[in-house]
Amino acid sequence: MQNRVERGARVLGYLGRALSHELSAVQQYLTHAGLAELWGMEEVAGLFRQEAQEEQGHAERLMAHMLRLGGMPNASQLTPVQAGSSLVELLEADRRLEQRAVDFYREAASYCALINDPDGRLLFGSLHDEELEHARELEAWLERIRREVR
Ligand SMILES: [Fe+2]
Ligand SMILES: [Fe+2]
Repeated sequence: MQNRVERGARVLGYLGRALSHELSAVQQYLTHAGLAELWGMEEVAGLFRQEAQEEQGHAERLMAHMLRLGGMPNASQLTPVQAGSSLVELLEADRRLEQRAVDFYREAASYCALINDPDGRLLFGSLHDEELEHARELEAWLERIRREVR
C-alpha cells in the first residue's frame, strides 16, 4: 500500500484528469451546439448547450474538491473535439465521450474506496452515475432517430 502522500497525489491526479475531461466535454458540447445551429436545428442546439452547462457544473465540483485538498486546478491539455457531418455522428461522438467518462470515474471511485477516502469516493461515484445517465440518454436519442428513419 502506498503512503498517505502518494495516495493524496494519486487522488489529485484523478481530479486533474477528470477536470481535463469535463472541460473537454464543455468544448465538445458547445461545438455541437454551434454546428446544430448552423444546420438550422435550434432545439437540438439548446439541448447541447444544456449538456455543456452540466459538464461545467461537474468541472466546478472537481475544482472545489481540489481546492479543499490544497491542489490548484490546472487543466492545460484538452482532448480534441470529435464532431461529424450529421446529428447521428455528433451523438455517437458524445456517447463515446460519455462512455470514457463512465469508465474513468468507475476506476477513480474504486481507488478512493480502496484507500478509504469517502469524500473522493462519493464525488467520483456521483459523477460516474451522472455520466452513465448521459450515456443512456444519448443511446435513447440515437435509438429514436434510428426508428424514425426506418
Ligand atoms: Fe461530466
Ligand atoms: Fe456527461
